[in-house]
Amino acid sequence: MSHKALSSTLIFLFFSSLVLSSPPEDPIKCSSNNTTCTITNSYGAFPDRSICNASQVLYPTTEQELVSVVASATRNKTKMKVATRFSHSIPKLVCPEGQNGLLISTKYLNQVLSIDVEARTMRVESGVTLKQLIGEAARVGLALPYAPYWWGLTIGGLMGTGAHGSTLWGKGSSVHDYVVEIRIVRPSGPQDGYAKVETLNEQNEDLNAAKVSLGVLGVISQITLKLEPLFKRSITYVAKDDSDLGDEVGGFGHAHEFADITWYPSQRKAVYRVDDRVPINTSGNGLYDFLPFRPTPSVALALIRTTEDVQESTNDANGKCISSKTTTNTLLNAAYGITNNGIIFTGYPVIGFQNRLQASGSCLDSLQDGRLSACAWDSRVKGEFFHQTTFSIRLSLVKNFIEDVQKLVQLEPKGLCGLELYNGILMRYVKASSAYLGKQEDALDFDITYYRSKDPMTPRLYEDIIEEIEQLGIFKYGGLPHWGKNRNLAFEGVIKKYLNAQKFFRVKERYDSQGLFSSTWTDQVLGLKDGLTIVKDGCALEGLCICSQDSHCNPSKGYYCRPGKIYKEARVCTHLKSK
Ligand SMILES: Cc1cc2nc3c(=O)[nH]c(=O)nc-3n(C[C@H](O)[C@H](O)[C@H](O)COP(=O)(O)OP(=O)(O)OC[C@H]3O[C@@H](n4cnc5c(N)ncnc54)[C@H](O)[C@@H]3O)c2cc1C
Ligand SMILES: *[C@@H]1O[C@H](CO)[C@@H](O)[C@H](O)[C@H]1NC(C)=O
Ligand SMILES: *[C@@H]1O[C@H](CO)[C@@H](O)[C@H](O)[C@H]1NC(C)=O
Ligand SMILES: *[C@@H]1O[C@H](CO)[C@@H](O)[C@H](O)[C@H]1NC(C)=O
Ligand SMILES: *[C@@H]1O[C@H](CO)[C@@H](O)[C@H](O)[C@H]1NC(C)=O
Ligand SMILES: *[C@@H]1O[C@H](CO)[C@@H](O)[C@H](O)[C@H]1NC(C)=O
Repeated sequence: MSHKALSSTLIFLFFSSLVLSSPPEDPIKCSSNNTTCTITNSYGAFPDRSICNASQVLYPTTEQELVSVVASATRNKTKMKVATRFSHSIPKLVCPEGQNGLLISTKYLNQVLSIDVEARTMRVESGVTLKQLIGEAARVGLALPYAPYWWGLTIGGLMGTGAHGSTLWGKGSSVHDYVVEIRIVRPSGPQDGYAKVETLNEQNEDLNAAKVSLGVLGVISQITLKLEPLFKRSITYVAKDDSDLGDEVGGFGHAHEFADITWYPSQRKAVYRVDDRVPINTSGNGLYDFLPFRPTPSVALALIRTTEDVQESTNDANGKCISSKTTTNTLLNAAYGITNNGIIFTGYPVIGFQNRLQASGSCLDSLQDGRLSACAWDSRVKGEFFHQTTFSIRLSLVKNFIEDVQKLVQLEPKGLCGLELYNGILMRYVKASSAYLGKQEDALDFDITYYRSKDPMTPRLYEDIIEEIEQLGIFKYGGLPHWGKNRNLAFEGVIKKYLNAQKFFRVKERYDSQGLFSSTWTDQVLGLKDGLTIVKDGCALEGLCICSQDSHCNPSKGYYCRPGKIYKEARVCTHLKSK
């Protein structure tokens, strides 16, 4: 496709937010007689592409019902897992063990229970979405100060994986650090009727385990969050050359409360989000409706995917670089989807209320159950299919990491155009947390999205460069992988990076001594079982292993296992006829 045709496609894509969109598919499917069910994630694919099984799904609507579900399954020694309405995590966290597990869905645990305006607290059931939470709080003049940018997550699920927004101020950007009380239903013995509700507040140390639990302690029923009076902020995106990025990141994060940076390494460009609180009487009614989270016409999704498939299969690095520049410019010119008044973008700064600027996700809203448009990654239509590598590197090491990536770009200038097609590397600030499985130090989180072929044996363009960045971040610089994203290899040895892991295990042992809420995957991630990496032909292409022999790449397509270009300890799948 010509450059021009692609850009008009993109423009069509980005400005067509008013078309009818269908809501995402339910990640849980059951046979008509309800004897077997399967679960996957919102992308329709776990890192190893398996589909998980369960013999039953239950939908409690109150804490009382939840208690009786957990009690009944505990009495039966049934393995359980909590599932949410959309199942947005990439790894296999939601899979119960084996074929006969039970899924406990929080779909109907979706009520806001109470709001104390004086104390600025809000008590919600765990299946409440971020969108609901933000909206209900704003109605009484309150706001959650920091949160993920995508509002389709549930409060239980986002806490389960330590999800965050971006700030170095206050208690930091992780939602779980604003939790003042959790009620969690966990297995118990006959003396308690086989299930027990624990009420954990800030006086109880177990709260530090329950705040980020990977779902292995039991089912969180209710969460009380500490909020702030609703405020306004002022946002300006500033694009700059990336040559001094390593020097800038530290100061920038401290200077602006909601700072983040989007980095386009092959374009040698970084977009700084200058974002601060302003007095509530500052005029402006801005709205954030992030373009990539808007409903996208299926025709456009298919066209874009086909273009990328062709660029990949013909090794068209130039084509990818041209497409990525067009995409970036389109996004930047449209201020990523921010408007000054909810309708049109007229210029910076964009000023508005926190609840209208902190998160978005209009592709989740449905007007009709058609398939004219959808979220870009909806697996029912031909659209985006990608891997996501996300890790946080402690601030003192970030400069070195950035410079290593820049050295790779110098060696392979077109190497990272592919990830710029997915809006580059999103860099967000996080702070050390008291949660045992939370961030260990103040850090910068790098969020990288890139092409994944529908065929697991097909390598991607510049496979080696992206793999080297993954191994640099996670191993050379000791980055902490996001629990709800990443490919298997990122979790290799991860638990050793957590100082309080033993404290977490002690709570896990007390709350669920039989491990009914644990699975092979959670045991592997927590370092309690081997087998996290899956060694087989082509495994490195899918991040199921780090290659140690050529067959882990794909020699028939010219990809061999070789050391990294600047990180010699890395082992990556390199295309040997590429130069
Ligand atoms: C488009 C998109 C944008 C995203 N943006 C961000 C972002 O800006 N920042 C960020 O940090 N992350 C982001 N994420 C990742 C996201 O935060 C995590 O994947 C999150 O865990 C998903 O929440 P969920 O409600 O879908 O939970 P699920 O993925 O369904 O569940 C996650 C885990 O929590 C457990 N769990 C869920 N509910 C409960 C409960 N009530 N009690 C006990 N355990 C429970 C589940 O068993 C599972 O182990 C994004 C993901 C997507 C798809
Ligand atoms: C299957 O389970 C769902 C959800 O619990 C329920 O709505 C439906 O009626 C059940 N179907 C049958 C045939 O039992
Ligand atoms: C349920 O349906 C499946 C096919 O969908 C069938 O194989 C199975 O025997 C049925 N089980 C019962 C108990 O009816
Ligand atoms: C789920 O069940 C199917 C059919 O029995 C099986 O092929 C598949 O491997 C199972 N999934 C997992 C993760 O065990
Ligand atoms: C526990 O077992 C009983 C008897 O087999 C069954 O009726 C019940 O549905 C089971 N409970 C759960 C949650 O699996
Ligand atoms: C906002 O309020 C402050 C104090 O109440 C006042 O000094 C200031 O002039 C007001 N600003 C605007 C833009 O109205």
